[in-house]
Amino acid sequence: MTVDLHDYVATVENFPEPGVSFRDISPLMGDGVAYRQAVDAIAAFAKDLNVDLIAGPESRGFIVGSPLAYALNIGFVPARKGGKLPREAVSASYSLEYGGENVLEIHKDAIQPGQRVLIVDDLLATGGTINATREIIEKLGGIVAGVAFIIELNDLHGREKVMSTGEVPFLALMNY
Ligand code: PRP
Ligand code: ADE
Repeated sequence: MTVDLHDYVATVENFPEPGVSFRDISPLMGDGVAYRQAVDAIAAFAKDLNVDLIAGPESRGFIVGSPLAYALNIGFVPARKGGKLPREAVSASYSLEYGGENVLEIHKDAIQPGQRVLIVDDLLATGGTINATREIIEKLGGIVAGVAFIIELNDLHGREKVMSTGEVPFLALMNY
């Protein structure tokens, strides 16, 4: 059985602030068929990329990345928001679609030089989150094998921002 994943995205206008159309994937995660279909589609994309690790930014990137890593029998590296990791970490800062600055961090020993890392998240907006994750992975000597999202917001041109720091294989399951 295949479902239309668009039927599992709830759009909330003016959240978290006026002018933002929030694309909420909670219904997709809450449905076993839709969730598995989304994770399996990203797993199929990963198959050709010779991936050693999955990385995902806190917090919705964990929801996509953890089941994917499990399905592929490889490890998951969390990129956590600033100040959460207990051991030595590498960080990068970025700004969000709806304003504000954030910091992401990855433990220094989480990625070995030369390891191929697929970055995943629920949604690509401006690309700040993914580029910060990428910056950290590359500082650690990792190779970004690709980037994959459940949703890409076309008008915010995040894909161009990601590619401006180097072309990488790209997957978005839905575009808005
Ligand atoms: C959201 C989303 C992506 C990011 C996309 O996370 O899950 O990670 O924004 O935006 P960008 O492409 O403009 O960087 P958010 O920072 O809201 O955190 P959350 O996952 O904890 O809700
Ligand atoms: N993260 C950044 N922008 C977003 C949006 N429009 N909907 C859901 N998550 C987001």
